[in-house]
Amino acid sequence: WRQRSEIESMAELSPQLEKELERLDKELWISSEKLKEIVRRFQEELDEGLAKDDQNIPMNVTWVHSLPTGKEKGTFLTIDLGGTNLRVCKVTLHGETTKDNNKRYEIDQEQYKFPNSIKSTHADELWTHVAEKLEDFIENKGLAKEYNDKKKMPLGFCFSYPAMQDRIDHAVLQRWTKGFDIDGVEGHDVADQLRAKIEERKLPLDLICVINDTVGAMVASAYNDPATIIGGIFGTGCNAAYMSSISSIKKLSPDDERLKDKNGNTRPRMAINCEYGAFDNARKVLPLTKYDVQIDEESPRPGQQMFEKLSAGLYLGEIFRLILVELTDRGLIFVDQEKNGNGKLREGYSIDTGFLSQIENDETKDFADTRAMFKDVLGLDVADEELDVFQRVAKLIAVRGARLCACGVAAICLEEGITKGHVAADGSVANKHPHFKKRWAKALDQILGFDSVGEDQDPIVITSADDGSGVGCAIIAAMEMEDRLQWQA
Ligand code: GLC
Repeated sequence: WRQRSEIESMAELSPQLEKELERLDKELWISSEKLKEIVRRFQEELDEGLAKDDQNIPMNVTWVHSLPTGKEKGTFLTIDLGGTNLRVCKVTLHGETTKDNNKRYEIDQEQYKFPNSIKSTHADELWTHVAEKLEDFIENKGLAKEYNDKKKMPLGFCFSYPAMQDRIDHAVLQRWTKGFDIDGVEGHDVADQLRAKIEERKLPLDLICVINDTVGAMVASAYNDPATIIGGIFGTGCNAAYMSSISSIKKLSPDDERLKDKNGNTRPRMAINCEYGAFDNARKVLPLTKYDVQIDEESPRPGQQMFEKLSAGLYLGEIFRLILVELTDRGLIFVDQEKNGNGKLREGYSIDTGFLSQIENDETKDFADTRAMFKDVLGLDVADEELDVFQRVAKLIAVRGARLCACGVAAICLEEGITKGHVAADGSVANKHPHFKKRWAKALDQILGFDSVGEDQDPIVITSADDGSGVGCAIIAAMEMEDRLQWQA
């Protein structure tokens, strides 16, 4: 059994369970040949997105033209809307490391849990909620003493959904992803919608930029680590950004006035937010299982974000749950036991990715923590034989996800001819899954043909991103304001 050797078995499995696991292993395993085939198609789709508008992978232009120098300065407010939480930060960039505590920036932040009901409300309710939190923050931190109608505080908005930008301070939502389904926002400018609420409440804020979390991760990381080449999010969603040369962005004319600096020269580069969670929506190469198909069909946007649905944190736990339900229905696990549970086994998205991370991370005797977690979340007791099955299934799903995640980055590197550098990664899967980075690096080695000398010595290395949606967003606002000053000079 391909992957079994790494997990010590606690129990002899029944022949039926053993057979089911072999089937799952076949369905979920992606060979290195298949990875390479996926990457080839990925490159084609990246190319199509750069050539024309309205392609499957949008390759959105961002109007972020450079990585930071490290000298960016100022105080900014940032708001981060991207999934489970709403985060407001006050970020002060010092422009250099301070002598006393060696810091380049200070951050003061509040996190507000996003009520689940908001995910499917109307635009008005969403923006009212966001403006309310901004107002709370301004009040609680005493910012109104310093900022007013005449002297507004610059605001950066990290909006982690696919948005078409024809300027850095505008962003038209193409479609909701990650289970969001709020009426009246798709096809509209989110910057305008937020600005209207800011004005209504007379908040002393000036919205300078709208950015994606991937671009923020790349910029924040480059601020501290100049070897950064890509910002990647491996979390609730899955996406990446990189700096492209303008000449590769065929859908833009090099004469476009918006690309010029104040001396009339076309700027050489721009950050591209790939939005590659949409890869292979046409289902040409991804090896979909019936679980993937079911997740897609039951999602608010069937047929969209296919790649993300196989690889991102929002879905990994749900794939696991669907497999558990199937094995239960076949009478192979939780025999005569389900009725003792709390019903959560049958409830969509009741198992999250943290659950899978925990299973693979459990070092307690007899896996006491895993057993307690099953009891806690599903109300079910786990027999030794079941425990073995769950560990193996959790691993299969996570390995497939990590290997797929490597495909997106490999495709960017091959397309752009990038042979060296750091992929700054953020998101719950990258940060919290105990084996994600190792598995990702191994798959990247197989695709790009590195001699596997060890993940830290590979030419392309995955690193932990700095705070993109807070600090990164503030740095981009600072760069944009500096640019505006140049034009005024
Ligand atoms: C989804 C969003 C994308 C974001 C990613 C990670 O793919 O569409 O904008 O970068 O999730 O949060």
